[in-house]
Amino acid sequence: MSEEEEGLKKQRYESLEDLPGVGPATAQKLKELGFHTVESLAMATVRELEPAGISEKKALAMISAARSSIGISFIRADELLKMRQNVLRLTTGSKALDKLLDGGLETQTITEFYGEYGSGKSQICHQLCVNVQLPPEKGGLNGAALYIDTENTFRTERIVQMAKHLGLDPENVVKNIIYAEAYTSDHQMFLLENADEVVKQNNVKLIVIDSLTAHFRSEYIGREMLASRQQKLNKHMHRLIRIARAFNAVAVVTNQVMAKPDMFFGDAISPIGGHIVGHTSHTRVYLRRASHGSVRIARLVSSPYLPEGEEIFKITENGIEDISEEEKPKSSGR
Ligand SMILES: Nc1ncnc2c1ncn2[C@@H]1O[C@H](COP(=O)(O)OP(=O)(O)OP(=O)(O)O)[C@@H](O)[C@H]1O
Ligand SMILES: [Mg+2]
Repeated sequence: MSEEEEGLKKQRYESLEDLPGVGPATAQKLKELGFHTVESLAMATVRELEPAGISEKKALAMISAARSSIGISFIRADELLKMRQNVLRLTTGSKALDKLLDGGLETQTITEFYGEYGSGKSQICHQLCVNVQLPPEKGGLNGAALYIDTENTFRTERIVQMAKHLGLDPENVVKNIIYAEAYTSDHQMFLLENADEVVKQNNVKLIVIDSLTAHFRSEYIGREMLASRQQKLNKHMHRLIRIARAFNAVAVVTNQVMAKPDMFFGDAISPIGGHIVGHTSHTRVYLRRASHGSVRIARLVSSPYLPEGEEIFKITENGIEDISEEEKPKSSGR
């Protein structure tokens, strides 16, 4: 490594404009392409910068500088370039729900499940922790799961039930779920900031944060704290997307809903945190109960490329399942 490269490596850049070779005009172009931060640029591919008229050589230099700035040391550049073509899918256990998501949850992006109490958010997270351990031909990723639990609702017993139903050895399945309880929002952030090693060492292919917003919601109260809450959430989500991309893993977060509209969002029901990840690719699924006890309705609310839609599934002893024809509600209130 030359001295210059060595120097580059140690340099930290706060904003795009600070990067070598990036002037105000280039920074503007990058922002128009959705790269607002050094972090997001670090995860960009050369090809993604093409539309800004940035040469391959310059793009590589910028991305490398951004990467070394944020200390990515766990992935090679050629791997990074290939990653986009390597998106994998993880099954939910319900064909209907998988269909809604075009084949399951994608690696390298964040999928958010939001809904009221009891809508099934945590149940889906549990199921995914089991499913991720399945081989690809069964919709899994042959990997482990990392579960960051903020509400102490993770239950090993539930994992055992689901694992047995799939014919897996429950003991093994439980061993492949790395669990961490987060006691405060700062602790939650700290856990994720230090997750790289754990993810790498254990072949983690699913990262769950259940719930993403609960601590933030209870700690940051009032309008005057809203901006700092959003800033922290933003940072947290960026960290998550970075890990998901770097390790080709699925990232799942849960979020409760606000019953009342507030000044920032017009909808009667909206997820807490609003548009937390503005420019990061992000799939949002709204869950609600149907009239039948075990039946749930999933609505794809936002996806980088899929149309909106709704599907129904059920939560049973076995886990997340499709409903049979007879069980289908006559009117699901669509
Ligand atoms: N063993 C089981 N058998 C059948 N259904 C179950 C079982 N365990 C949980 N459920 C169903 O899942 C529901 C709980 O869902 P879940 O815990 O995922 O809600 P949530 O959306 O995470 O709610 P919260 O916002 O409170 O975290 C229960 O009300 C029940 O309907
Ligand atoms: Mg829950």
